Amino acid sequence: MNRLDGKVALISGAARGIGAETARLMIAAGAQVAIGDVLDERGRETARALGKGAIYHHLDVTQEDDWRAAIAATTARFGGVDILVNNAGMFLGKGIEEASLDEWQRLVAINMTGVFLGTKLTLPALRERAAQTPHGSAIVNLASVAGLVGSQLDPLYSMTKGGVTLFTKSTALEFARKGYRVRVNSIHPGVIQTDMGEQTFAARARHHGTNDTEAAKKAALATHPIGRLGVPNDIAKGIVFLASDDAAFMTGVGLVVDGGLTAQ
Ligand SMILES: NC(=O)c1ccc[n+]([C@@H]2O[C@H](COP(=O)([O-])OP(=O)(O)OC[C@H]3O[C@@H](n4cnc5c(N)ncnc54)[C@H](O)[C@@H]3O)[C@@H](O)[C@H]2O)c1
Repeated sequence: MNRLDGKVALISGAARGIGAETARLMIAAGAQVAIGDVLDERGRETARALGKGAIYHHLDVTQEDDWRAAIAATTARFGGVDILVNNAGMFLGKGIEEASLDEWQRLVAINMTGVFLGTKLTLPALRERAAQTPHGSAIVNLASVAGLVGSQLDPLYSMTKGGVTLFTKSTALEFARKGYRVRVNSIHPGVIQTDMGEQTFAARARHHGTNDTEAAKKAALATHPIGRLGVPNDIAKGIVFLASDDAAFMTGVGLVVDGGLTAQ
């Protein structure tokens, strides 16, 4: 199960964290992977460690020209794109009264415009491969539990991820109805131990008027009934499944991987 033999994936924001782990699992599942990020040195290192099945290309997801160049480089090296993972994202961690307009616009540019541009600009390549493969191509969007229920820590982040949740369903419907054979699904992580996870602990501490990130981490853990926080591997496995032909009858769905957080 969950094999990706012969498939090519483009993953945004994959220099580190969930994206980097997804790249690793996809290569192990038989895919070739292009990593895009703004952290060029870290991204090159991540790709180098994965061997010749991986390349790194600079990709600021807010820039159309960067997408065009990354897609062209991926196609030139591996012959096409079967899988797009819109993974790049940022967390703000401020309440409505603290957040500025500039911060909101940056958040929207990365978390929403980035997903729109990635979807729009990769679509021709995904459709081309879809026409040649038995089950078509796939897009996986990184939403969040904060795209399903309200967030106490970051209402603006929650607004962007709620947008990603419904954009996923809308594009899934549009592509299915048009016969494009491109499935679109989202994944909704709970708190995952990455750089962004650390940012959520700092925001939670600030929210309680302290600098005690260890106490904030314990409080975050207590919201996960399963008794631990997530790790990138938990989410990467879900992404590989949604991208694989084992999910061939799934489109427009959100896979929740949150240790029970939203079951409460
Ligand atoms: N960590 C969590 O608790 C958590 C929970 C729910 C959802 N998510 C989502 O998962 C995804 C991955 O997050 P992560 O936890 O691995 O965080 P992370 O901060 O470790 O990784 C995010 C990556 O995105 C990259 N990035 C930021 N801005 C970019 C831009 N403009 N263009 C290209 N790349 C850019 C960063 O450089 C980084 O490599 C994000 O979309 C995030 O919102 C994370």
